[in-house]
Amino acid sequence: MSNPLEISFAPLIDDLAEHGWAIQHVALPVGLTLELAAECRARENKGRLLPAGVGRGAAQGVQQQVRGDHIEWLEAEQSPASAGYLAVLEALRCQLNQALYLGLEDFEGHFALYPPGAFYLKHLDRFRDDDRRSVSVVFYLNPEWLPEQGGALRLYLDAGRELDVYPQAGTLLVFMSADWPHAVLPANRERLSLTGWFRRRG
Ligand code: OGA
Ligand code: MN
Repeated sequence: MSNPLEISFAPLIDDLAEHGWAIQHVALPVGLTLELAAECRARENKGRLLPAGVGRGAAQGVQQQVRGDHIEWLEAEQSPASAGYLAVLEALRCQLNQALYLGLEDFEGHFALYPPGAFYLKHLDRFRDDDRRSVSVVFYLNPEWLPEQGGALRLYLDAGRELDVYPQAGTLLVFMSADWPHAVLPANRERLSLTGWFRRRG
């Protein structure tokens, strides 16, 4: 990733402002997308992706009947690909703040791997006691995903409308964290992604 600032997210940001959600296909250079997918698999093979918890603080715990993914939090020092991804998201954060005055202060995110059959029930990306998460950002890492393989992220929009986003490598989905309940539907193959949140000041 030579200069992440060369990526313009203007159409994505316009759509987010208009609808509260937005999708960009082939959002990152293909090379970086492949590196991130390889890194997610390597982390899984080393046993570093662990069953994700539900809730926060003392109430936190693994509940596979709610959420079956395995995750590892992302840090820039972990690899060049991780650093490259975080640099791109930093550019996106700045562009979002400039265009929409969202006051986004930082980003937290993790690799996620859903084994075949795993799912995440309908939920909102906000904790009851912490409303810092403002914009959800999901980047998908799966080459040649077919709709019949399942695994859509289903957004429950207004007026009973549903939007299914398939986890095709290169697809970037952003949405307002407080506004849209969503679920990850089970797939018949492994499903890899990077999921995270831009947060406001506490
Ligand atoms: C989440 C989530 C969506 C996805 O981790 O909160 O909703 O498509 N992930 O992986
Ligand atoms: Mn979510």
